[in-house]
Amino acid sequence: MAHRLFEEKYHASIYQKYRIIPPDRVTRLILEYLDKKKGPPHELAVDLGCGTGQNTRLLAPHFQKVVGIDVSECQVEEARAVPGFANVTYRSGPAEELPFPDGSVDLLTAASAAHWFDTERFLKEAARVLKPHGCIALLGYADEFRLYYGSCGDKLNNICAEVKKVSKRYASPQLAASDNRLRVLFEDIPFPDKERIERIPLKMEMTIAAAVGFLESFSYCQTYFKTDPQAAAALLESMRTRLLEEMGVSSPDTKLEFTTDFYCVLACKPQ
Ligand SMILES: C[S@@+](CC[C@H](N)C(=O)[O-])C[C@H]1O[C@@H](n2cnc3c(N)ncnc32)[C@H](O)[C@@H]1O
Repeated sequence: MAHRLFEEKYHASIYQKYRIIPPDRVTRLILEYLDKKKGPPHELAVDLGCGTGQNTRLLAPHFQKVVGIDVSECQVEEARAVPGFANVTYRSGPAEELPFPDGSVDLLTAASAAHWFDTERFLKEAARVLKPHGCIALLGYADEFRLYYGSCGDKLNNICAEVKKVSKRYASPQLAASDNRLRVLFEDIPFPDKERIERIPLKMEMTIAAAVGFLESFSYCQTYFKTDPQAAAALLESMRTRLLEEMGVSSPDTKLEFTTDFYCVLACKPQ
């Protein structure tokens, strides 16, 4: 059964606004791996659990065709609304039943999504649709981001840790797989040729409002909102106010430094 925590329009819209885009280095690593293992032509890439298409669009310059697939129609609608990517299309559907013939896909990616899939059915489907030497790339980040500003030291991170502690009571069990950087799923991949890349750093500027929005986009925060909307809204409002106070600024558009690191699981289908 698919996990359907990302269905609502509001959740999809904050995804589009606040989710971070994988750093260039992750995309480069994936493409280099595909080149090393399979080589050209790069005809078809499929991004599973594409959400609003952050990772899908990064693949567009490197493939004749890119298809983003997500079980949530609202997420796919947001993705389709982004103009300027003529070779990218989106479809709603599950990662465990893909609308592609056997041996037709060069690259299958999933960004911050594979922990939601039914592992056994997804891996079976991946083995079916990939071309010989086609590759899987599962990328993501745990929610261990850090915020820095001036001389605030760890104070901003302590505020985030407190907010996460409260809202993570609403986390689904599947999130443990993401926090564990897909270690179990990695073991289950039936292809002998596979590797993990840990800790690919991302450092970027982000506004205070975006940092709060980023946290709000996590599924556990959305579940908290559904369960107790007033308490969840008050928690995020207090996060915003406390960040402003610690930073000694009044505008939520003030920029701070945001860091996290990505991981990537790579695997190549045998001949
Ligand atoms: C955390 S979001 C990641 C979205 C996007 N890839 C990103 O990098 O921000 C996970 C996405 O996976 C989708 N999803 C969950 N289970 C799925 C499944 N079985 N098949 C396809 N998509 C699924 C959700 O609807 C959601 O949009």
